Amino acid sequence: MATMADVARSAGVSVATVSHVLNDTRPVLPHTRQAVLDAVDELGYTPNTLARSLVTSRTRSIGLAVSAISNPYFTEILQGVEAGALEHGYSLLIADPHDDPKHEQRVVRLLHERRVDGMIVAPSADPGDLVAYLGRHDVPTVFLDRLVDVPSDGTARFDQVGAENAEPMARLVTHLADLGHRRIGLVAGLPGLSTTNERLSGYRHGLAAAGLPHDERLVARGDSEAAGAERATTALLSLAAPPTALVTANNAMTIGALRALRGRGLSVPDDLALCCFDDFAWADLFAPRLTVISQPSKEIGAQAVRLLLDRLAAPDRPSRTLRLPSTFVHRTSCGCPDHPHSSEKGPVS
Ligand code: HPA
Repeated sequence: MATMADVARSAGVSVATVSHVLNDTRPVLPHTRQAVLDAVDELGYTPNTLARSLVTSRTRSIGLAVSAISNPYFTEILQGVEAGALEHGYSLLIADPHDDPKHEQRVVRLLHERRVDGMIVAPSADPGDLVAYLGRHDVPTVFLDRLVDVPSDGTARFDQVGAENAEPMARLVTHLADLGHRRIGLVAGLPGLSTTNERLSGYRHGLAAAGLPHDERLVARGDSEAAGAERATTALLSLAAPPTALVTANNAMTIGALRALRGRGLSVPDDLALCCFDDFAWADLFAPRLTVISQPSKEIGAQAVRLLLDRLAAPDRPSRTLRLPSTFVHRTSCGCPDHPHSSEKGPVS
C-alpha cells in the first residue's frame, strides 16, 4: 500500500508538502499541487485517517443520535446535518436511541468511545443521566429539536437548536377559534419532551388569547406516535361533548388521528376541523389538504453542525440556544375554502 513518503518521492516534494496539499493547510504552488495529486492518483494513495487521528487527537467525525430516523421530520434534519458535515470534511456516525433513555446512554457512550469530535443529540424525554455523562466527559454537544435544561453556571459546553413551538401551536388554536370552534381538542406528544411541553403551553395560550376556557378533558396523550394518537383521538371523540376541531402535535400523530376519524366514518373538515403540527411531502395530497405548521427541519440540522463546529473552534465560548421560526401553511383541513393563495406559506406571527 502506497504511503505518503512514496507520494512525496514520486512527486519530488517533501512529505510536509504532500500533507499541506491533501489537508489544505497551507497554499501550495499550482504545479506542485498538481504533481502531488498526479502522484496520489498514479500510486492509488489513500490517506489513513486513523493514523492522522493519533497525531491530531481529532477524528473529524460527528456522532449523531436521533430517534425515529424514519420519521420524515427527522430524516430531513439528518439531511441537513449530513450536508453540513460533508461541507466541512466531517463524517457522521449515526445511532437511533429509540426514545429510550437507557438505550440512549448506551449509544452515546459507544459514539464517545469512537472518539467522535462532538455530538449532535435529539434527547429523550428523560435526559438527565445523558446530560450528566456528556458534561462529565466534556463532550462538545449540540442538542437539537428537544431542548434540555443547560446548567446556568456557564460551565456546560452545550449548545441547542430547535424550532419555535409555542407560538405556532397557539396560532393553530386561534385560527380554529376564529372559525367559530369552542371545543378544540389537542392530541399531545410524549410527556417529558420539551417540544411536547412547549406545544401544550402554546395550546393553552391560544385558548386564552381566544377567550376560551381550558378544559383538561380535551387534551389527550398521543405519545408522539401514530398508534397513541389513534387511541387518543378515539377517546376524544367518545367524550359526552366531543371537540368540533382537533390539533395534532406532530406528523406521526396526524396519521393516527386520521385513522381514528376514518374508523368512525367522520370527514374533515365537515365533521371535525383539523390542524396539524408538521408539514410533510403528502400533506397537500389529502382531501382536504392539511393546514399545518411547517418546521425548518433541514435548517435545524445545518445550524446544529454550525454550532458544533463553532464550539470545536472555541471550546470556552458561552452556550447558545437558537430558535428557528416555523411557518403557518394555510390549506383547507381547518375548514377554510380553497382559494388561490391558500397554500401560500406565511410566517407564524
Ligand atoms: N419533535 C418535534 N417535531 C416532531 C417530532 C418531535 O419529536 N416528531 C415529529 N415531529
